[in-house]
Parts: sequence; structure tokens; C-alpha cells
Amino acid sequence: MRLHHLTLALIGLVFAIGLLGANAPVFAAPATPAAVGTPAAAPLPPGPKAQPSGAAMAQTCAGCHGTDGRLQAAAFMPLAGMPKAQFVQAMRDFRDGKRPATLMRHVAEGFSDGEIDAMANYFVNVKPE
Ligand code: HEC
Repeated sequence: MRLHHLTLALIGLVFAIGLLGANAPVFAAPATPAAVGTPAAAPLPPGPKAQPSGAAMAQTCAGCHGTDGRLQAAAFMPLAGMPKAQFVQAMRDFRDGKRPATLMRHVAEGFSDGEIDAMANYFVNVKPE
């Protein structure tokens, strides 16, 4: 029984290391959906595959900007189809306090340049309805 517990503890440790790797801020390539939710028995190798995808991060915007950034409302501009350069500029300006904002400064503060790029790549490919 003791051996069994030790084995479980080891698996848990390996899994925890895998999760840490998944959070590593590496932005060389988009994450594949398959990289999410891999069982503990197969820990993720740390690296580009484990980065959060633009699509995943974009879900946090849906509450205000609509699902897939498609909300058509004056206060919450639609993000769907926004040109990449415009999106990146807006997010960096919000984050760096260069563009006045009621809410977006707080939202943008949490994102690195690489994460903003990943979301820009996601939103530019969403067709506005
Ligand atoms: C709590 C509500 C809220 C959330 C969540 C939110 N936004 Fe916004 N967003 C706003 C508001 C309000 C504005 C208008 C500027 C302002 O007053 O902050 C805005 C403006 C923007 C703009 C500028 C649009 C334009 O036409 O120039 C971009 C880009 C943007 N948001 C991206 C995002 C992204 C990306 C996320 C998710 C990571 C997000 N927002 C999450 C409320 C929100």
C-alpha cells in the first residue's frame, strides 16, 4: 500500500510539473486544442505547444464584446474581423495607459505582447455577422 501511495504521489508531481510547463509564457507557435486536458499519465512537454491559444484567451472578452467578438453595440465595439495592427495597437495603448478607457486598461493589463498577437490572429479571422 505504501508503495502504491508513493506511485500516486509521483504521478501527481509529474502532472503538476506538466501544468507549470503549460503556463510557461512561450509564444513561438499556437497551441493545439489537443494540448489542453491531456491526462496525468502523459504530462505535457514544456514548450510552444503548451501556450494558451488566441481562441482560448478570447473567451474572456465575450462577456462584454459578445461571443467571438461579434456583439454589435456602440459601447462594445465588435472585435470580429478587426485588422490585426489596429487590434494590437488598441490593446497595447490600453495596457500602457496611452488610450483612455473605462474598462479596457484593466483588461489589457493582464496580457503580454505575445498574447495580444495571438488574440489578434484569432479575431482577424472571425467573420463579423
Ligand atoms: C468588462 C467589459 C470588457 C471586457 C471583459 C473586455 N472589454 Fe474590450 N472594451 C470594453 C469597453 C467598455 C471598451 C471601450 C473602451 C473603454 O472604455 O474601456 C472596449 C474596447 C475594446 C477595444 C477597442 C475597440 C476599437 O474599436 O478600438 C479592443 C481592441 C478591445 N476592447 C479588446 C478586448 C479584448 C481582446 C478583450 C478580452 C481579452 C476585451 N476587450 C474584454 C469592455 C470590455
